[in-house]
Amino acid sequence: METPRIRITVTVNGEAVSEDVPGDRSLLDFLRDDLGLTGTKEGCGEGECGACSVIVGGRLVDACLIFAAEADGRNVETVEGLADGEVLHPLQRAFAAAGAAQCGYCTPGMLMAGKALLDRNPSPTREEAAHGIAGNLCRCTGYGTIIQAVMEAAKES
Ligand code: FES
Ligand code: FES
Repeated sequence: METPRIRITVTVNGEAVSEDVPGDRSLLDFLRDDLGLTGTKEGCGEGECGACSVIVGGRLVDACLIFAAEADGRNVETVEGLADGEVLHPLQRAFAAAGAAQCGYCTPGMLMAGKALLDRNPSPTREEAAHGIAGNLCRCTGYGTIIQAVMEAAKES
């Protein structure tokens, strides 16, 4: 039997969107498949890798682990909302400068983890920066350049 649909209104990167979604639709599928915001990546699909990290109501969440309906009435920030038009966010500039993106699959989630950290702690120590991205896995970089990029972005923010 099909899951009943629910009308939700979510503000995504500053824009209100209303959709009818099945009650069991994940926020990740809602963003990627319904809204076409494919910057947010699916890795494990079970809360282990952080590739799907977005910010909901100011908190970093794994979009694969929550229902779209749980975001009803809330603000959702995704990687697509980071840049201001043509102007990259300081984190995006710092990631590029530090070579913190290799294959790039983890990068959207890392950027959002970095943003969630800098939003609540604009001047993190290196340990705090490492802790801020601790829920996000990267197979390529060894994390050093990512932590360095978060520290550099903090200087600019
Ligand atoms: S895809 Fe969501 S945590 Fe891995
Ligand atoms: S850059 Fe490849 S997984 Fe992080």
